[in-house]
Amino acid sequence: MLLDRKGRSLENLRLSVTDRCNLRCHYCMPEAHYEWLERDSLLSFEELSGLVDSFIELGVKKVRLTGGEPLLRRNLSYFISMLAKKPLNDLAMTTNGVFLAKHVQSLKDAGLGRLTISLDTLRPERFLALTGQDVFEDVVRGIDSALDAGFERPKINCVLMQGFNDDEIIDFVEFAKDRALELRFIEYMDVGGATKWHAGQVFGMHDVLQRLSETYGTYEKVGGDGSAPSRTYRLPHGQHVGIIASVSMPFCGRCDRARITADGVFLTCLYADQGFSLRTLIRQGVRKESLQAVLQHVWSGRDDAGAQERLALRERQPIFSLNELRSNVHREMHIRGG
Ligand code: GTP
Ligand code: 5AD
Ligand code: SF4
Repeated sequence: MLLDRKGRSLENLRLSVTDRCNLRCHYCMPEAHYEWLERDSLLSFEELSGLVDSFIELGVKKVRLTGGEPLLRRNLSYFISMLAKKPLNDLAMTTNGVFLAKHVQSLKDAGLGRLTISLDTLRPERFLALTGQDVFEDVVRGIDSALDAGFERPKINCVLMQGFNDDEIIDFVEFAKDRALELRFIEYMDVGGATKWHAGQVFGMHDVLQRLSETYGTYEKVGGDGSAPSRTYRLPHGQHVGIIASVSMPFCGRCDRARITADGVFLTCLYADQGFSLRTLIRQGVRKESLQAVLQHVWSGRDDAGAQERLALRERQPIFSLNELRSNVHREMHIRGG
């Protein structure tokens, strides 16, 4: 098994298929202007598929497609059908849900296994204020169509921001209960792109738990998948709620994720200053064994624990300034894939 310098295996691959997004969520893309990756720098589906094969041989068992917004990549279902033939335990996608209703059946037919939908508010006017687009109803339609298409317990990811949506925690629990969705609350992270982040806006795990117990009574912690970032709690009526406490309780010690950007940069941490570009090698037609040797070299040298290191900081600010983001756009969360 391929291990990094901290003994962590490589099991999870997050593939960003495009850097573009139709929303401008305040915690991810708050600026008025962004530079997009050059179109011809994006890896083709064939190039990505070959890369996934190499990762699988090194131990990857789970692949998740991300963006930007992955549904902005044309013919995504075709790519999913390529991935669905590979020996994976899990094939998933994270989407903002806006275009989901239109595509969900073809995603299902192509062999997509699981769906995660990002949704941070249940109030249309807040949705508009947060994302810049008045499309809340489209996302709800997307969620319902995912259920209709037979996706089992789609996940909802809700980033909590103190003073913006922390008053919706119980509404989200009820929304998820009514529709049989798996709900996870995420702490607002100081990652690249989050230039408006400040510590006072993080609504932490303990506060979420307190809100839950005020309304529902005693909850219980449920043991979960060792490497999953989410901690799961069972409410007295049986419903499960997950919390991703990347800020207050990082899970770097169990992190088995590799990330590939749409233009082929290999990142070993969400907080990494830079990654390793594989595109030139791939386009030079490098042999599979040589490509694998590079992947192996990068992973075995991996020492990252970005979230944990940031926890130790006394004064915490967004990890990159706007200038630092503009000088290396690969530091942006919408390019790294969340
Ligand atoms: P599964 O475990 O496959 O269900 O999915 P996931 O939880 O990895 O996927 P998802 O894309 O839903 O991730 C949820 C959120 O957790 C992300 O959007 C990030 O905010 C956070 N997150 C995901 N991966 C990492 C990571 O490697 N490090 C940190 N610190 N946070 C992460
Ligand atoms: N903090 C936490 N999560 C974030 N995401 C993007 N930016 C941030 C941030 N600053 C995650 C959200 C969203 C996914 C696509 O990326 O979970 O649902
Ligand atoms: Fe993994 Fe880095 Fe996230 Fe820690 S901060 S869980 S090492 S990606």
